[in-house]
Amino acid sequence: ACNKYNTTVLKLSRAMSDLLNNAKKAAAHAAVDEHVKTDYVVGVGSGSTVVFAVERLAERVRNENLKIRCIPTSFQARQLIIDHKLILTDLDVDPVVDVCIDGADEVDSKMTLIKGGGGCLLQEKIVASNAKELIIIADYTKDSVKLGDQYKKGIPIEVVPIAYVPIMNKIKQRYGGNIELRMAVKKAGPVVTDNGNFVLDWTNFDQDSDWEKINLDLLMIPGLVETGLFIKMAAKAYFGLKDGTIKQTG
Ligand code: 5RP
Repeated sequence: ACNKYNTTVLKLSRAMSDLLNNAKKAAAHAAVDEHVKTDYVVGVGSGSTVVFAVERLAERVRNENLKIRCIPTSFQARQLIIDHKLILTDLDVDPVVDVCIDGADEVDSKMTLIKGGGGCLLQEKIVASNAKELIIIADYTKDSVKLGDQYKKGIPIEVVPIAYVPIMNKIKQRYGGNIELRMAVKKAGPVVTDNGNFVLDWTNFDQDSDWEKINLDLLMIPGLVETGLFIKMAAKAYFGLKDGTIKQTG
């Protein structure tokens, strides 16, 4: 009976992950097809949905002779660009990015985003803020009315290691909720970002918060490097749905 139960659970979780992957792929392909043109400098976001976008970019480069240069937002993105034989560039050479395509952990009804589930928020925000357009690609689970609707890991905040305790205390005192230092698997130590910093995850916050004000306030704390709140940055979001169709907002 136990084996049968395990097999059913396994089948269900595979079906669930197939649905999610199809949704991610549909969103990524739609965004790449609609927003990337030849001679573009493309910001390449981070995360699992972006993998499908890079695959599509490579396919278009091969099949349509599309010419693009890619700016990574993380070590993962850099490797993806190299592995798919795309042209790698950076903000020194190409300070203006035509379009940045990135995933998100949550997108609310005002297009405010939570990003940084993979800890890449700082470089993602730098590249996005230098892009003419930030296009978000995500599966249906990321579509929220208010932030905190479904994302259980909270708002990521990148901090300089020596400042993490006072920053945690300040956020708790000012706004309440829970705040934790992100740990590596098996609690092997803190997660260290591509920039050598730590990540705090802020959960159970007030969902009716004024995020623009809080974001500015947080950025004034010494040692707080960046927040995973992306406000008024995204031009459009593509959500892949369970049936393989797309919902577009923005
Ligand atoms: C990484 C990010 C990712 O874009 C975000 O976590 C979404 O990832 P995924 O596409 O795997 O759901 O912000 O820092």
